[in-house]
Amino acid sequence: MIAQLGALTIGYDDVGSGVPLVLLHGFPHDRTLWSHQLPALAEQCRCIAMDLRGFGESSVCPPYSMDQYADDVAALLDSLGIDRAVIGGLSMGGYVALTLWRRHPERVRAFVLVDTRGGADTDAARTKRRAQIKQVRSTGMHAIVDELLRGQLGKTTRERQPEIIEGLRRMLLHAPADGVAGALEAMATRPGSANTLESIDVPTLIVVGEEDVLTPPGESRAMHALISERAHGRSQVEVIARAGHLSPMERPAAFNHVVTEFIDRLVVGQP
Ligand code: MLT
Repeated sequence: MIAQLGALTIGYDDVGSGVPLVLLHGFPHDRTLWSHQLPALAEQCRCIAMDLRGFGESSVCPPYSMDQYADDVAALLDSLGIDRAVIGGLSMGGYVALTLWRRHPERVRAFVLVDTRGGADTDAARTKRRAQIKQVRSTGMHAIVDELLRGQLGKTTRERQPEIIEGLRRMLLHAPADGVAGALEAMATRPGSANTLESIDVPTLIVVGEEDVLTPPGESRAMHALISERAHGRSQVEVIARAGHLSPMERPAAFNHVVTEFIDRLVVGQP
């Protein structure tokens, strides 16, 4: 489906009914990252997977920043008539989710933070992102796709699931160079989220692949430690065995199970 938000076009899927759950993809993905989640979770929630600007069917147009991505999420919620939603974000989508909390906390009913982190980039990470911007602008996505595939998929997936590697490769090669460059700069300049995490007082599920080398389980535990006090024990970490950085795509059944249980508890009002 397509939402026209002023000059901005946003591609999204909207399936199921019940508690609204908005799913935000990582870098440099599009909403098809969640293709195993929508049919499964739609039995329980109203699942909305959107393309962030610069990706999928959304407009490839600046400005690109975490603030702008978060404002786009809020604008899509407005256009769909949704006041509050569970906000799920994978990696870069998690950075957007935390930015939404900073800018529009009233829109967040709960969080599902997936394979993500709270820290800002190090200087070395920023330098690498700027080198990648140059590579993508001069040679296209081919220049960085193999490195991304190696980092994003877990060892077990790389050894045993060639169809996932090829599916992800197609998705990454499809990403528009301008959207990719914009996202790289937006990630490089994002602030750290320690204070944001400390201020979270809504139920939060943190999910991470056991074999995630980009945002390893230690990052999830560090986020949980910052959140847990304000959220009064309503933050929890779930580690998905034999999955890497893209746990929803690599182990969909295991991932869907922990999310379904979390939403069940949310609906009946348990911590
Ligand atoms: C992602 O999957 O969104 C990226 O790993 C995020 C990042 O590069 O920091």
